[in-house]
Amino acid sequence: MSDGRPLSGQLKKFVFRGKSTNNGDKRGDYLEIVIPELLSAGYSFYTWPSAPLLAWFLWSQRKHLRGLRVLELGCGTGLPGILASKCGAHVTLTDSVALPRSLTHLSACCEANGLIPGRDVQIIGLTWGLFLTDVHNLQPVDLLLASDCFYEPSQFEEVLSTVSYLLDGTDARFLCAYQERSSDWSIEALLKKWSLKGALLNLDSLSDSSGIDYRALIGDRSLHLLEIVPV
Ligand SMILES: C[S@@+](CC[C@H](N)C(=O)[O-])C[C@H]1O[C@@H](n2cnc3c(N)ncnc32)[C@H](O)[C@@H]1O
Repeated sequence: MSDGRPLSGQLKKFVFRGKSTNNGDKRGDYLEIVIPELLSAGYSFYTWPSAPLLAWFLWSQRKHLRGLRVLELGCGTGLPGILASKCGAHVTLTDSVALPRSLTHLSACCEANGLIPGRDVQIIGLTWGLFLTDVHNLQPVDLLLASDCFYEPSQFEEVLSTVSYLLDGTDARFLCAYQERSSDWSIEALLKKWSLKGALLNLDSLSDSSGIDYRALIGDRSLHLLEIVPV
């Protein structure tokens, strides 16, 4: 029990496979990630639909992840960052500093995949728009990630101010997967304000080039992959 609410737990398994070779041998091109979820504990205790979309995109780019400094914002259970770490990136996973239980759960998600926090991955509290000392030690990064962090319009600017700070003066990019929940919501003006520009990745051409069926993956949800870079 937590806060009087029952916690229903489950272990969710995500399986990533590469394209078959000619003889069907897929050895070495297979990754299984398990995420312990607490369905009724809060937003950060289960994996949102945007996360597998971003994780699959990273999987399609896995050959380029090795050695990259990757930082994920608003991780929740951290599926994309855990995948990046398994593919050889140096990963820092973050979630709100105000949610210590979420950060503890994030540690458990890493450990469930054989990643030891502090050794294999770094976990820190990072609240969007809040520039505490820790944030100043996070640069440089090569790749910033987030899934489903544009879900509350009053926080869009906080997310983008953090992104702008972390990308400033680097060649890094911000890859984010998000679910479109209202056609009235837009980050266009904020991108301009924070000297950023964004481009949606075309999921159909990505499917053609990677062999990953993104349409099947997202089903009838309005999920998108957006790349943001400094202007
Ligand atoms: C919709 S959940 C998405 C979680 C995860 N990225 C996923 O896709 O499964 C939003 C996440 O943002 C985190 N979050 C909310 N407000 C935040 C803030 N002000 N600063 C940092 N993280 C925040 C939440 O704790 C939660 O983990």
